[in-house]
Amino acid sequence: MTPQAPSPLRKYAYQADPLAEPPPLELAAILDRHRGEADALITVLAEIQLHYGFLARQQLQYVARELGFPLARIYGVSTFYNLFLFDPPGKHKVRVCRGTACHVNHSDAILSFLEDRLAIGVDETTPDGRVTLQTVACMGACSLAPVVVVDEETHGRMTPEAAWDAIDALHDEEEPA
Ligand code: FES
Repeated sequence: MTPQAPSPLRKYAYQADPLAEPPPLELAAILDRHRGEADALITVLAEIQLHYGFLARQQLQYVARELGFPLARIYGVSTFYNLFLFDPPGKHKVRVCRGTACHVNHSDAILSFLEDRLAIGVDETTPDGRVTLQTVACMGACSLAPVVVVDEETHGRMTPEAAWDAIDALHDEEEPA
């Protein structure tokens, strides 16, 4: 009986396994630091996001495999906290506060206005990669409600138009006329 040549399909099946290779060195270092720590999941996810800017699906799969957590639990934890991003963030981060003080001062109107103007939803990024729109529970500046944070700058007593102007000013800084 003549030996059969390996099926080309085997090769493709192997390559299709996203975890066939070991994790990249930086990711492996993060995982190694917390191996065996039962309560380190949020810390691990935060460190991955700090290094890479967001949580890629394959990174979460590595976390599940290397640290022994079910993937569903990792998604459950990472989607519960809105500090985590699952796509590359935009160049600028715009966060609309939805805490109680801001909510009663109509932060929902600001959010709707920005969603319409930017043509994106919460936790999405404009197609040109400039702006990521997010919400936060409270920025600790309730006396200034409603609050919008553009990158690291806190803007208080916002209106929808003023929030848009703050975003528009970013473009002005980058592209002087
Ligand atoms: S509720 Fe918005 S800053 Fe506190």
